[in-house]
Amino acid sequence: MLCREENELLTRVGPGTPMGQLMRRYWMPALLSVEISDAEGAPARVRLLGEDLVAFRDSNGRIGLLGEHCAHRGTSLFFGRNEECGLRCIYHGWKYDVDGNVVETPAEPSASEFGKKLRHTAYPCKEAAGMIFTYMGPPEKMPLLPRYEWADLKAEQVFPVKSLLECNYLQGIEGDFDSSHTSFLHNNNIQNAERLKRDGAPTLEAEDTSYGMRAISIRKFAAEQIYVRTSPYIMPSFSIVPGPPTAKFEEDDLRGFRFWVPLDDTTTWLYILNMTKKPLDDAERKALRSWINADYSRVRNFHNDYLIDREVQRTQVYSGIQSVNAAEQDGCATETMGPICDRSKEHLGYSDKTIIALRKMLLNAVRDLAEGKAPPHVIHDPREVDFSRLRALKGVLPAGTDWRKVMEGLGPNDG
Ligand code: FES
Ligand SMILES: [Fe+2]
Repeated sequence: MLCREENELLTRVGPGTPMGQLMRRYWMPALLSVEISDAEGAPARVRLLGEDLVAFRDSNGRIGLLGEHCAHRGTSLFFGRNEECGLRCIYHGWKYDVDGNVVETPAEPSASEFGKKLRHTAYPCKEAAGMIFTYMGPPEKMPLLPRYEWADLKAEQVFPVKSLLECNYLQGIEGDFDSSHTSFLHNNNIQNAERLKRDGAPTLEAEDTSYGMRAISIRKFAAEQIYVRTSPYIMPSFSIVPGPPTAKFEEDDLRGFRFWVPLDDTTTWLYILNMTKKPLDDAERKALRSWINADYSRVRNFHNDYLIDREVQRTQVYSGIQSVNAAEQDGCATETMGPICDRSKEHLGYSDKTIIALRKMLLNAVRDLAEGKAPPHVIHDPREVDFSRLRALKGVLPAGTDWRKVMEGLGPNDG
């Protein structure tokens, strides 16, 4: 458990909050590329870390992310005209470029230098893997975007989907760092004797790494076998989770890189960046987002009790929630804790070992930043930017095997 003050420290992310300051030191997804696919197309609303913003792609294809409310008298720029390399407010015609410069104030006398003195809120953007990333921290501290595996994949090999989680980001990402729940919440076949034989109480470890942490779980699998999973937690709130034990690193294996991004303290975008070596066709892409509505809410959500089916729960699926994506079952587990889970009321056990380590690491990072120390995994040296081999590992091995030696020697690793 955390005391109330610590819980507040980790969960509040608005402007000026300690955790908000920490998150603003990293590049984070702001929206999907498809939300503003066309130059001079319609702008998109973006809410990020408690700030209301508007994204647009200008005539030259450059991306702007501006404060939503016009600097003149506050009209929403979401309704603006995207024309001639800028976004123009429809009230009195003020026009902004992607850097937040007020380039025209047509209602002012022609000699007026008025607009030149102003600089509207504008955050820099980078586009990669079908996503638009932004950096909202102090300009002089802007880091490089680490090159993860997806940085080198072609457009047809990546398919990011985003979905709304109606609670604080920390509840979401704690689920990714909690291996023990998978034996229960994600058991989709309670009749499967093999699965039931598996150890529901794994041995757990958490290790500090240069990018954040990694969680390790080891289960007894079958007679004389162990099942090992490792899950990286990447600063500030990203993760890679291993697939099911049957999946292998094969040519067509689909993997996911996950970003938990707060809109504000009580709502979160989960971006799942699906990656594959074999290009994804349209039917595969459609299936990968079939659990998400057009407005990015989830088909199974808090307001419809996740479409739980009690008969299915009794006979087939542990949770009673039949899912296309495990995130739907995770959503029930985490959203029903409340908008911001009161961690002072928890009763943590051995199975929460990795969560406890994660919270400690984050608290240290927040406190260190307040004391002027550099946050972890903020990269300024181009020689340190390559994280393309960072993966989640999973594998079934003979009991007694030194899994580090075997798995970390196989190639891509998360060490
Ligand atoms: S409020 Fe936007 S130009 Fe006046
Ligand atoms: Fe899960």
